[in-house]
Amino acid sequence: MNVLLTGGAGYIGSHVLRALTGAGHTCTVYDSLVKGHAQAVHDADLVVADVADAAALANALREYRIDTVVHFAAFIEAGESVQQPEKYFRNNTAAALTLLETMRGCGVGRLVFSSTAAVYGTPDRVPIEETDRLAPINPYGSSKLCVEYMLRAYAEAYGMGFVSLRYFNVAGAHPNADIGEDHHPETHLVPLVLAAAMGKRTGVKIFGDDYDGPDGTCIRDYIHVCDLADAHVLAAHGVRPGEVRVFNLGNGEGFSVREVIETCREVTGRDIPAEIAPRRAGDPPRLVASSRKAMDELGWRPRFPKLRTIITDAWNWHREHPEGYGS
Ligand SMILES: NC(=O)c1ccc[n+]([C@@H]2O[C@H](COP(=O)([O-])OP(=O)(O)OC[C@H]3O[C@@H](n4cnc5c(N)ncnc54)[C@H](O)[C@@H]3O)[C@@H](O)[C@H]2O)c1
Repeated sequence: MNVLLTGGAGYIGSHVLRALTGAGHTCTVYDSLVKGHAQAVHDADLVVADVADAAALANALREYRIDTVVHFAAFIEAGESVQQPEKYFRNNTAAALTLLETMRGCGVGRLVFSSTAAVYGTPDRVPIEETDRLAPINPYGSSKLCVEYMLRAYAEAYGMGFVSLRYFNVAGAHPNADIGEDHHPETHLVPLVLAAAMGKRTGVKIFGDDYDGPDGTCIRDYIHVCDLADAHVLAAHGVRPGEVRVFNLGNGEGFSVREVIETCREVTGRDIPAEIAPRRAGDPPRLVASSRKAMDELGWRPRFPKLRTIITDAWNWHREHPEGYGS
């Protein structure tokens, strides 16, 4: 396949780039670098442009003879999306419409989309299945769900084929430790806790310890970024004309915030001060995926399901790159 990765210079995109290239596909990264890092794509072709720029996008699709797009490019901070919803609907939803229209104009009919567990909002039950209620509780989740609706309409009207992957909490880094997570600002738990282990932060805050559950802290499902990357290779092969196939991607096991911090203490051997803070509005108590469908239909099998492995790989990346790609 000739694959265009929008947002391929970001955390997840750079790991998927490595997996797709390893599987023998020809890859081109298309990223504005508004958040990503040119170093993360190593020697892959990189077009520095915005997805909202239809002319640049059409040029890239034609020049690199693209047949499949993997669309990561988006803003990802749920909290910020509450304060600035227009930023999220513009970049995550409106730019995705530009992408679909440009693909259609260039005769490119296959796309894998980065969706999110945030489309479920606060679930009625766990583990969550793909057919469960979709009820996002922030503009970030809504901006992604809007794209899923567009995919449905485009598949039906124009016969284009899509796979939408709903990721749960992505963490870890490539075992080579040469690519990893480097978000600014960082809002994800594992890198924040590891930054505290490195002494870059004074400690971590636990938002609420009075939820229903074993230790009162929120429960999340962590997936290794390389397992997620493997799923994209399978998904790219699994695109079918005229269909939208939707898959959850998680490990099917929940870990509490306290368990994550404790595992980070064990892996790093460092003291990590943690302080209890009030609950954050809009934090679902428990998010755990059923990924049965991805296993049954795509043949996906996580290679690194253990929380300890996920955190060890993240730690190796951060230790070797204390300032991220700027190290
Ligand atoms: N990280 C997670 O845990 C997680 C969970 C669920 C879903 N997702 C989704 O996965 C995708 C990738 O997330 P990530 O953690 O790698 O984020 P990231 O910020 O590291 O990567 C996003 C990349 O997209 C680029 N980008 C953003 N807007 C662009 C635009 N308009 N044109 C061109 N490039 C643009 C950025 O420069 C960046 O390189 C996102 O769509 C996100 O919503 C992430």
